Amino acid sequence: MQVVKKIDELRNIIKQEKIKGNKIGFVPTMGYLHDGHLSLIKKSKEDNDVTVCSIFVNPTQFGPGEDLDKYPRDIERDMKLLKENKCDILFYPDVKEMYPNGFYTKVTLSILTDKLCGKSRPGHFDGVATVVTKLINIVNPDSAYFGMKDYQQLLVIKRVVEDLNLDVNIVGCPIVRENDGLAMSSRNVYLTEKERESALSLSKSFKLVSQLIEKGIKNPQEIKQEVCKFIETHPFTKIDYVELVDIDTLENLNELKDKFLLALAVFVGKARLIDNKIFEIK
Ligand code: PAJ
Repeated sequence: MQVVKKIDELRNIIKQEKIKGNKIGFVPTMGYLHDGHLSLIKKSKEDNDVTVCSIFVNPTQFGPGEDLDKYPRDIERDMKLLKENKCDILFYPDVKEMYPNGFYTKVTLSILTDKLCGKSRPGHFDGVATVVTKLINIVNPDSAYFGMKDYQQLLVIKRVVEDLNLDVNIVGCPIVRENDGLAMSSRNVYLTEKERESALSLSKSFKLVSQLIEKGIKNPQEIKQEVCKFIETHPFTKIDYVELVDIDTLENLNELKDKFLLALAVFVGKARLIDNKIFEIK
């Protein structure tokens, strides 16, 4: 695996690969890799000739008081995992390389980002949209791979790609979970053993929602209340949001029909965990 820290060097390598007619797949990450990330690498390897993974803890997507400084990092372990999974190129820039002095441009959306995580983390999606636009311009991949765990992020990136005519195919990939249902996340490392038990309330609430739908309940408020009640019975939990929304616009729904997204953000101890699931009403 080639490890590249400089933008110009990466651009040259990619240019050579493209001359050879190779297809480039790209998996952007913030590192501290787990099987969720590795599933994206695997998918990229299936679809492409060369897979590039980036590891960059992007400061512009963290708000004041968030966990930028404490965000878990272990580059040696990450490199080992990437090598084992036959990733071809790791792009590992430092903050100065990505944001040199005199950086004045931001990618901002006027839809999607005022909802769910955007509401509780103002500016977060501007940071994500900006860094992903930069990374896509640097790597110039044929396809880029993102997890549905960050469903809103995926919609935001698809919007940016369409609006700014970025020449890349965005691929959404399924959420990878631990055996007991907990969605894999780099932030799970913040959980104590007891908190981890409570963290299961997020994925367990999906079963509750299925049962309520089967009972014929179509009022989103009613379901939301039941989910909140259920999660709150677990110690160490503090709900940030529980929302039932349209799968394309993330707008709140008055009545449940066809498909909808249940989106959850819950603090469990110090960790802010998110999870989601698409439900279909038959
Ligand atoms: P990060 O949280 O490291 O996630 C990198 C990619 O892995 C994202 O596309 C995310 O949705 C995906 N992912 C995380 N957990 C997953 C799981 N359990 N199953 C499937 N996919 C999972 O998301 C970011 O980094 C950043 O915002 C980034 C896009 C890199 C921009 O800085």
